[in-house]
Amino acid sequence: MKQTVLITGGAGFIGSHVVRLFVEKYQDIHIINLDKLTYAGNLENLKDIDNCANYTFVKGDIVDRSFVENLFEQYQFDGVIHLAAESHVDRSISNPLEFVETNIIGTVNLLNAAKKSWGDDFSNKRFYHVSTDEVYGTLGATGLFTEETAYDPRSPYSASKASSDHLVRAYFHTYQLPVVISNCSNNYGSHQFPEKLIPLCINNIKEGKPLPIYGDGKYTRDWLWVNDHARAIDTIYFNGVLGQTYNIGGHNEWKNIDLVHLLCDLMDIELGKTEGTSRQLITFVTDRQGHDRRYAIDAAKIEAVLGWKPSVTFQEGLKNTVQWYLANHEWLKNVTSGNYQKYYQDQYND
Ligand code: NAD
Ligand code: TYD
Repeated sequence: MKQTVLITGGAGFIGSHVVRLFVEKYQDIHIINLDKLTYAGNLENLKDIDNCANYTFVKGDIVDRSFVENLFEQYQFDGVIHLAAESHVDRSISNPLEFVETNIIGTVNLLNAAKKSWGDDFSNKRFYHVSTDEVYGTLGATGLFTEETAYDPRSPYSASKASSDHLVRAYFHTYQLPVVISNCSNNYGSHQFPEKLIPLCINNIKEGKPLPIYGDGKYTRDWLWVNDHARAIDTIYFNGVLGQTYNIGGHNEWKNIDLVHLLCDLMDIELGKTEGTSRQLITFVTDRQGHDRRYAIDAAKIEAVLGWKPSVTFQEGLKNTVQWYLANHEWLKNVTSGNYQKYYQDQYND
């Protein structure tokens, strides 16, 4: 193998797409997927590549410092693509400490282990930190987040991600650790845990349960197909300039209520139901605390400098996503059994 690359959080939603893309595309790179397998991590997401010669799964916790150091010693990684995180805003509101531990301490453990393992020789080494547009805070009716927008995180989730971004940049400036960062907008696609808006609504429509819309439903997000995020990560990992940040987004803003209408109509078609059936499930519920009004990414830099752009329209990506969830009933059933029931009851007073 030419290289050994550590991908953290590879059993999660975005991580599993990144692992699959790298394992299939770069057969001369040994991919080590390190994941704690929290509620959000699921090896079923990767069972199609499980036996590939250039793929190894390691179960472990990035918060465990000596475990992380030993792993770097064992594998002598050439690069790191760091996605492991606690990722759901609602969970961060009820349990901020877990976000501080995984997202901040876990990231520092990886930075320290990389620095120690690489010593003084950073040639051909790279530490890629995957982050979110939520670090920039919230927008009014106009404007876009650029790479120069000042950080203004407002939820425990985004504050923990912002903190990890600052630490990654600090290691670049202080120790010249070869880092690169990207900040992406909301992802959607197959294998996303059904606590996030799109898979939650797909699952609830299937089950004939209410579709909970927070507040007035006019909160706006910029949605990107997860496979396009994975393609952007591939491009940035190999071609991004060290020390730089790349914003990734789909130029695809939707108010939540309009998005849920579109999803309902797609589900009606796929399920062979009369138009308007699923929309009847829409239920306005108490707003999220500190709910950010609008996120929207200016992706001009990655498009102009690295030549990346989204490959599908939202209609195509959403249809593909709906069809995946309907075809993968067992996956959905498995992840929504057990602890999910309690989470759902606590979150929605079901
Ligand atoms: P996810 O919650 O689906 O997956 C996170 C993965 O990390 C899981 O497999 C989990 O088991 C693992 N993990 C959690 N804690 C760990 C620990 N202590 N040690 C090792 N592994 C641990 O998240 P996702 O949506 O795939 O997001 C991946 C990354 O991308 C995150 O860093 C997130 O901040 C970022 N991001 C997500 C989005 C989005 O819309 N989902 C958008 C932009 C950026
Ligand atoms: P989510 O998928 O949790 O992503 P994020 O909070 O990281 O943007 O939520 C997307 C939007 O949908 C956000 O404005 C919150 C809203 N939302 C609801 O209205 N109802 C829900 O049940 C959930 C989970 C989210």
